[in-house]
Amino acid sequence: MKDGLISMNSTRTPIIISSVATVTLLLSACGGEAADGADAGQTLRLALNQSEDHPSYIALENFNDHLAENTEGWEIDVYPNETLGAQAEALQLVSDGSVDMAIVSGAQLENLNDDFMVFNLPRVFDDVDHQMDVIHDPEITGDLYASLEDSHSFTVLGGFTQGARSVYTTDGPIETPEDLSGQNLRIQESPINIAMAEALGGSATPMAYGELYTGLQSGVVDAAENNEVSYYTQGHYEVAPYWSYTNHLVGLDYLIINSDVLDSMSEEDRATFDEGWAAAHQEHTELWAEATEEAIAGAEAGGAEFSEVDDEAFDDELTAMVEEFITTDSQQELHDAARDAAE
Ligand code: GCU
Repeated sequence: MKDGLISMNSTRTPIIISSVATVTLLLSACGGEAADGADAGQTLRLALNQSEDHPSYIALENFNDHLAENTEGWEIDVYPNETLGAQAEALQLVSDGSVDMAIVSGAQLENLNDDFMVFNLPRVFDDVDHQMDVIHDPEITGDLYASLEDSHSFTVLGGFTQGARSVYTTDGPIETPEDLSGQNLRIQESPINIAMAEALGGSATPMAYGELYTGLQSGVVDAAENNEVSYYTQGHYEVAPYWSYTNHLVGLDYLIINSDVLDSMSEEDRATFDEGWAAAHQEHTELWAEATEEAIAGAEAGGAEFSEVDDEAFDDELTAMVEEFITTDSQQELHDAARDAAE
């Protein structure tokens, strides 16, 4: 992980502005797709909203190396920093086939199939290892990852952890939900996130990730919640230096791929692809702990203060969300299976 946040932030605005032009270019490049079916590899465009020093970018680059070395022509070109659009837009582009793959947060999938809500709730995963075991166990996930193929033409392949998420603020640390009262808390765009903002005591303010630095800086929002790695790599600690360890949930990112692209792989290439992806998410989990420590040290060196909260003061409201959002048998089954897999 490097300190190059200033250069990253200074490139953000032009990157977003140019995203429409980039996508137009990519759309016109789609004609180059191999026409002769299964054996012809292609370069897969992958939309990511993280910077190049984030573990997700690093693990995906290594996934690309694995494919480039072991298949005939399959490669992954990772577009970081929302170059291809924020997650909601990237998901749409994968669905219509103009982008091949994307990393999207669970919040985005919850909006399409409410079974995905189960994995976005507080108290479902005890820690990163439990989460990775659950979400990569086909006995637990069943047909969840194929559930959007007919309606949205993409397949979920599994995911990367977002680690434990906590609150950070522009105006002093918080200890209880009352301390967030009246503060605009930026959240991801989904029903669970709105309820979570309220459980944490703040006023829910949905906003795309790439807009958040400016949102905090300009005072449009007073607070946000994320993991330490995003807090550091996005430079948010510069404008919201008070981190309060609410640890309200272990978040989850998914890797999605256009289903036609996945189906066009030969059996052999698909096996190599699956092997590369398994290695990538394992590497991501290994990098995560180290990246978190580096992020804390980097943010502290930049003036951020990390403090504990009164856990009990948050507990009832967060736990109540599980009952509020689990309303169907299939959600209940997924939840029970995930909890059964906890140590
Ligand atoms: C994390 C996560 C992203 C997500 C972001 C957010 O950084 O990895 O996928 O977009 O949180 O809060 O929007």
